[in-house]
Amino acid sequence: MMTAEPAELLNGRTFAIISHPDAGKTTLTEKLLLFGGAIREAGAVKARRAQQHARSDWMAIEQERGISVTSTVLQFQYDGFRVNLLDTPGHQDFSEDTYRTLMAADSVVMVLDGAKGVEEQTLKLYQVCHRRAMPVVTFVNKLDREARSPWEILEDIEQKLGMRTYPMNWPVGMGAIFRGLYDRTEGVFELFDREARQFRRLPLDEAGLTEDESAALEEDLLLLTEAGESWDEAAFQRGELTAVYFGSAMANFGVETFLRGFLRLAPGPRPRPVEQGWVDPTAENFSGFVFKIQANMNPNHRDRVAFIRVCSGVFDRNLEVFHRQSGRRLRLSAPQQFLAQDRNIVDRAYPGDIIGVHDPGIFHIGDTVTTEPRWEFIGFPRFSPEHFAEVELQYTLKHKQYQRGLDQLVQEGVLQRFRPDDQGPQVYLGVVGPLQFEVFQYRMHHEYGVDVRLRSLPYRIARWVLAEPSRWEFGRFDRVKLVRDDLGRPVLLLEDERHLERVLERHPGLKVTDSAPLS
Ligand code: G4P
Repeated sequence: MMTAEPAELLNGRTFAIISHPDAGKTTLTEKLLLFGGAIREAGAVKARRAQQHARSDWMAIEQERGISVTSTVLQFQYDGFRVNLLDTPGHQDFSEDTYRTLMAADSVVMVLDGAKGVEEQTLKLYQVCHRRAMPVVTFVNKLDREARSPWEILEDIEQKLGMRTYPMNWPVGMGAIFRGLYDRTEGVFELFDREARQFRRLPLDEAGLTEDESAALEEDLLLLTEAGESWDEAAFQRGELTAVYFGSAMANFGVETFLRGFLRLAPGPRPRPVEQGWVDPTAENFSGFVFKIQANMNPNHRDRVAFIRVCSGVFDRNLEVFHRQSGRRLRLSAPQQFLAQDRNIVDRAYPGDIIGVHDPGIFHIGDTVTTEPRWEFIGFPRFSPEHFAEVELQYTLKHKQYQRGLDQLVQEGVLQRFRPDDQGPQVYLGVVGPLQFEVFQYRMHHEYGVDVRLRSLPYRIARWVLAEPSRWEFGRFDRVKLVRDDLGRPVLLLEDERHLERVLERHPGLKVTDSAPLS
C-alpha cells in the first residue's frame, strides 16, 4: 500500500445540507461552489441540472417531473480543505436515500428560511443526524427579506430541535434596512454596501452605523454574552449545540464568512464503528462502506453504480479489496468521483471522499469493502418507511421476472419489503418518499417487463418490535398491522404517531424502535 501524507487523510470535510424545500439549499450550494472555484458563474448548478435532464433518458420520471432523482457529490478545495458536499434528494424526490446520504457525512449544514424557522422536512432530517450525534452548523437564510427576529429563530431551534445555539454572527437590520453582520469571532463588522452590492469588513466603530443601530447591536451583544450560551466545543461535536450564522445565500450576505467558519468547525473524517471497535481515518488499511446504489445512471452503459464512502486509508485505482458480505476479493474497477455532476475517473481517494464503483450486482446498502478482512462496519440503519402499498399479484405468467426484479430492487434499497406475520401470500412495500413507488413501477416495467399494480395502505409509520410480539395479542381495536421484514423481524405498521401512542398505552410492555440494523 502506498503511504499518503497525513494531511490528505485528515483534511476531507464531508457534509450534507439539510433543509425544507425552498429554504435556499440549491442557492447556497451554488454560492459555496463559486467560492470553491468548482463553477464559474451563478446559475450553473440549476443550469447543469436542466442540461442533465436533457441528456439523460434513463428515467422518464426525471424528465416528466423536471427533478433530479440521482444524488451526487460535489467536491472542491477551499482553505486547504478537500470539501465533499453530499447532495441529498430533497423535494418530491425525498426518499430513503436522503436519510442514507446522511450516514456518509461527518457533519451537516442546516439551512433555515429566516421567515419560517424550523420546518417539517428539516425536523425529520435533523432527527437522523441527532441519532448519530452529528455536529450541526446552521445557516439562517434570506435576511435580505423581512425575517423573524434572530432571537425568535434561536428559540425555535432550541424548542423544536432541543439543540442549544451559539450565534457566530449577528445581523443589524434585515430586509430593506439590512446594514450588515457583526462577526462575533473576529469582532469585526461586515458592512453591506447596498450600491456596490458588496461587503466590507471594518472595525465596528468605522462601520458608520446610526446611534440607534449601534445601541441596538450593543444591547443584543450584551444579552448574548450574559444570557446566551458560551461556546462549548465538545457539545458542538456531539451535536448538542449548533453554531448559527445569519445571512442570505442569494444576496451573498455572509456566505464566505460562513464557509470559512464552517470549515474551521466541521470535523474531519470521523472514526467509524466496526464489530471490534473503531476504525480511524489514519489507519493503514483502506476501508469504506456502500451507502447508495444507483442503477442505470448513464443511458450508454445500463450499469449499476455503488457509492462508497471512504473511511480509512488510501484508495488507489484498481485496488484489490475484500467484500465482507460476499466473502469475495474484487478489484474496484473504474472508480469515479463526482465533480459538480460530471463523472471523473479517479486515481486516488482519501477518507471522507465518495467513489462510485461498478457494481456487478453483489453490493447491498451498508456493505463493507476493505483491505482488512476482519472489519465490518456496523450501525447503518434501515429507516421507517412513511408510505405503504400492497402488491396486487396478477401476473402469474411472469412470476419469475417479477420475483427477480423485486428481489433486485429491494436489494438496491429502492423500497422495503414486508410479509404478513401469518405467512400469507401478500407482499407489502414501504418507502420513505412516494416517488420511490413510481421508480419501482417504472423499473419493473422497463427492466423486467412486468407491470406491477399497487394498492396503497393507510399506514404512515413502521416500528420494529424489540421482542417477539405474540404475547401482546393485538386486537381489532388496535388497528395495527403486524408484518415481518425481509429478515423475519416483527414490525408494526401504524397510521400515525398518535395511533402509536395509543397502542403503546394499551400494551405497556411493548417496546418498539423506529429504525433497525440492516442485517
Ligand atoms: P431549495 O434548494 O432549498 O429548494 O431552495 P432554492 O435555493 O431553490 O431557493 C428557493 C427560492 O428561494 C428561490 O426562488 C431562490 O431564489 C430563493 N432564495 C434563496 N436564497 C435566498 C435569499 O437569500 N434571499 C431571497 N430573498 N431569496 C432566496 P424561486 O423564485 O423559487 O426561484 P428562482 O426563480 O429565484 O430560481
